[in-house]
Amino acid sequence: MMGIFIVPIALILSQCIGNTPAESADARGNVYAGSGSCIKCHKSIYNNYLHTAHYQTSRMASADNVHGNFAEGANVLPLSDSVKVVMQQQGKKLFQVKYVNNKPTEKHPFDMVFGGVKAETYLYWKNKQVLQLPVSYYNAIHAWGNSPGYEAGYADFSRVIGTRCFECHSSYAKELPQITQSLTRTVELDRKAMILSIDCERCHGPAVNHVNYHNEYPGQKIAKYIARYSTLTRAQKVDMCGVCHSGNSGTMLKSTFAFKPGDTLAKFKEAEFYHADTNPDKLDVHGNQVQLLQSSACFIKSKMDCATCHNTHNNERSLTALFTQRCTNCHSEAKHNFCKMANRLDKATLTAQCINCHMPQKPSSVITVHNSDKSTLVPYEVRTHRIAVYPQETQKIVSWLKNNKLKAL
Ligand code: HEC
Ligand code: HEC
Ligand code: HEC
Ligand code: HEC
Ligand code: HEC
Ligand code: HEC
Ligand code: HEC
Repeated sequence: MMGIFIVPIALILSQCIGNTPAESADARGNVYAGSGSCIKCHKSIYNNYLHTAHYQTSRMASADNVHGNFAEGANVLPLSDSVKVVMQQQGKKLFQVKYVNNKPTEKHPFDMVFGGVKAETYLYWKNKQVLQLPVSYYNAIHAWGNSPGYEAGYADFSRVIGTRCFECHSSYAKELPQITQSLTRTVELDRKAMILSIDCERCHGPAVNHVNYHNEYPGQKIAKYIARYSTLTRAQKVDMCGVCHSGNSGTMLKSTFAFKPGDTLAKFKEAEFYHADTNPDKLDVHGNQVQLLQSSACFIKSKMDCATCHNTHNNERSLTALFTQRCTNCHSEAKHNFCKMANRLDKATLTAQCINCHMPQKPSSVITVHNSDKSTLVPYEVRTHRIAVYPQETQKIVSWLKNNKLKAL
């Protein structure tokens, strides 16, 4: 029986791919081309981009891309004397299983992964809802820990994940019309309309006309039918990143999936939380890069934008020397605005610690994580974008240097 069906289906599929333009397959609509179509003309950008945190921020879970340890003994997160969660691999599938008094009571699969740089959290489908698994993985401790959003010590698998998470961590998710009339909102998502990872068009906007035009006129070297970054105002440039890097407080006016370069973010997000004059001392380092940068002298007294220091097509994580160089493009002895500590530090320290002194990593108060024994708090540290003089950080580094030199003697 099966064979009879498989043959015609395969035929239909191959016909679809041949006859219909690939773009109509994009869940966002036929103005989107899909990032696969960019490879042809932007190969090196595309290949480098695959290694970035943006690209990897959401994906289907598989045994190769979940970083936590599934080996016997390392795969248990005890939550109380009687309750534990065990991470299990069965064939190619991964599961979180809750045990009460050593009896399995609930089991759900790792369907999707969010993150991977500092932390990884996992989502599963339950009918048409997406929920978060209670255990996440933390790089700082190389171990499993309680998922943010779940109270320490509990594992009820019940945290529903709505489109808002996907607005910042994916390219598209579609909310299904609500059928239930109850007071409690049940967010249901369309499985077939989900586009994981932040793709090219999430930042650059729908590009099918761009692709079609340049396919037709290969001699044309000036980009057509795509927003050109160099022609945007500074506010528009910063808004392109602010879609996801201006924090998560405030009411959303509409879904940011519709945001395109050149749009004004204030039309999507209540402006009250998106002003340069937001008190930087009250902002959390997590996710508020835009406001923190806007409160820095560097930003106020220059024309810099996010791309002055970040090439988002490349994975530049921890390339300290590269970032220091971006600072010294503006700050140098020759320009008479170099570091006032410069004559008190050796050159190697100056380069290696530049951003640690002026953009230190600070623990987020939004995301805090309890270790499995509940007592230890694993801080989730984020590099602040308020560029300034932090005397305490300098003190830490200077005394570290002193201690290390003494040890070497
Ligand atoms: C048939 C060739 C072709 C394809 C396919 C193509 N592009 Fe382009 N694109 C070009 C050319 C030519 C330019 C202009 C030269 C340059 O900047 O590389 C360009 C420039 C760009 C620019 C720079 C705009 C600027 O000046 O700031 C962006 C952004 C861009 N393309 C995005 C995309 C995306 C996203 C895709 C896939 C959805 C894509 N392109 C697919 C040919 C193509
Ligand atoms: C659609 C949402 C979205 C947009 C738009 C966006 N980002 Fe991000 N960005 C994220 C998320 C989510 C992460 C965290 C990814 C992770 O680690 O899973 C991130 C991470 C980063 C990182 C850290 C990279 C690393 O290696 O850890 C940098 C730097 C960054 N973004 C800069 C930018 C800049 C600059 C822009 C604008 C040109 C921008 N982002 C636009 C969502 C976005
Ligand atoms: C307003 C945009 C935004 C929203 C909404 C958002 N995030 Fe994030 N998320 C970010 C950014 C930006 C980062 C990384 C940079 C930082 O820490 O500031 C991040 C980091 C993370 C990380 C750590 C990634 C890593 O590689 O270390 C996880 C896990 C995560 N988010 C999950 C979620 C979940 C689950 C939700 C929904 C409950 C959510 N986020 C909602 C923007 C967002
Ligand atoms: C996080 C947002 C983001 C994502 C995702 C992204 N870009 Fe870009 N891209 C930018 C920014 C910002 C610039 C402008 C950089 C500048 O001019 O300083 C840019 C510039 C470009 C340019 C012209 C300049 C150059 O470097 O040649 C091309 C072409 C381009 N992008 C293609 C792509 C393609 C193809 C993808 C997917 C593989 C992609 N981009 C993904 C933000 C992004
Ligand atoms: C686009 C140019 C530009 C870049 C890039 C830049 N800065 Fe600045 N920065 C400035 C300007 C302009 C000022 C203001 C100087 C003044 O007031 O005379 C400034 C001020 C500062 C200050 C003094 C802050 C204060 O509150 O007084 C520090 C510290 C600083 N920058 C460090 C850095 C570091 C570290 C980097 C790299 C991560 C960097 N800057 C990148 C232009 C830049
Ligand atoms: C060990 C910590 C440390 C390192 C490393 C360091 N700085 Fe500084 N920087 C300081 C301190 C402290 C001050 C304030 C000194 C003072 O006011 O006497 C300062 C002052 C400055 C200022 C002037 C601020 C003003 O008031 O005008 C700039 C600009 C600056 N640093 C940039 C840099 C850059 C760029 C680098 C890396 C190439 C760097 N610094 C490396 C600690 C450091
Ligand atoms: C003056 C330079 C500079 C500018 C401008 C700048 N950044 Fe950064 N950013 C850095 C440095 C340095 C790091 C640390 C990189 C590392 O160690 O991997 C960083 C890290 C980040 C991270 C990762 C934070 C973390 O702790 O993992 C995000 C997200 C980010 N930047 C977003 C942005 C956005 C959005 C803008 C524009 C609003 C921006 N940056 C502008 C220098 C800059």
